Amino acid sequence: MTIRAVVRGVGHYLPDRVVPNSEFEATLDTSDEWIRSRSGIERRHFAAEGQGTSDLATRAARAALSHAGLGPSDIDGIIVATSTADLTFPSAATMVQAELGMETGFAFDVQAVCAGFIYALTNANALIVSGQAQRVLVIGAETFSRIMDWSDRSTCVLFGDGAGAVVLEAQEGKGTPQDRGILATDLHSDGRYRDLLYVDGGVATQNTGHLRMQGKEVFRHAVEKLAATAEAALAKAGLGDDDVDWIVPHQANLRIIKATAQKMGLSMDHVVVTVQDHGNTSAASIPLALSVGVERGQIKQGDLLVTEAIGGGLAWGSVVLRW
Ligand code: UT7
Repeated sequence: MTIRAVVRGVGHYLPDRVVPNSEFEATLDTSDEWIRSRSGIERRHFAAEGQGTSDLATRAARAALSHAGLGPSDIDGIIVATSTADLTFPSAATMVQAELGMETGFAFDVQAVCAGFIYALTNANALIVSGQAQRVLVIGAETFSRIMDWSDRSTCVLFGDGAGAVVLEAQEGKGTPQDRGILATDLHSDGRYRDLLYVDGGVATQNTGHLRMQGKEVFRHAVEKLAATAEAALAKAGLGDDDVDWIVPHQANLRIIKATAQKMGLSMDHVVVTVQDHGNTSAASIPLALSVGVERGQIKQGDLLVTEAIGGGLAWGSVVLRW
């Protein structure tokens, strides 16, 4: 008997305010055409004033719990993947725990920027397969609108706010690639590339700072590294590209998503794409895409999924799971 971490429920939350590309044309030397053609983004959501990441995360958590048919007392732990927690501390995860009314269990944040949800899933999987937890709520939530430099057209048009969540549950499998649940994970980072994508503030500067990105360089690394990590995780699971029903990629740029699918020899019919509606929501983008993919009827029980992401650090990785 093999213990597998299986997705029992999924949900998401997007703030009410939708901002189309055209809104940036009033204040920046940019155009809807440039943003669409270079990134695939058409609109994004921005959180309301005073609405923090933990609020978005709590709403996504409630949606995932409801989808799973479970309540907060059924959960052993909460992991929130975020780089935009409300405060330096305590963690967004403990704020979610309190909002959900949970008085037991554990809660902590994982910070691996856009790869955060992949890192969080990998941690939750380790807790479950080692018998330390039965059910873990894994959330990706961000308010990147709080760290934009609104005068920098090369970054501020790309990001959005949102949250997605899954409930992972210990279930028995046979130890084969046909099992439901997480089948393999693959994590990497390389801190030599810290200057390609970072926030120029924090404890060191005593202010929050703004996101800075060398977009072209990050693009180059993404195209090279994402297909490689996805294929490495598939190989660890004893599977290949042909076995994949859905790539659920980090939603940063449609051109990166297409290039990765092409490298893996898969048509865009096998890719869940939400970047046009959400922009880049960093650690929230994969759970948002999972939830929307299920809502659209794309992802069905038994499908083989590969998720992959890269972001600041650089940190990147992938998770192979059967839905
Ligand atoms: O989630 C974390 C991982 N992040 C990513 O994966 C992002 C990776 N990078 C990208 O997605 C792309 O590099 C961008 C979408 C950021 C940029 O696309 P690009 O094709 O690499 O454009 P570029 O940076 O080479 O810029 C091309 C031109 C430049 O003008 P010049 O120097 O050719 O005259 C920019 O100044 O486009 C200009 N530009 C803009 N023009 C209109 C940059 N931003 C804008 C803008 N509107 N918003």
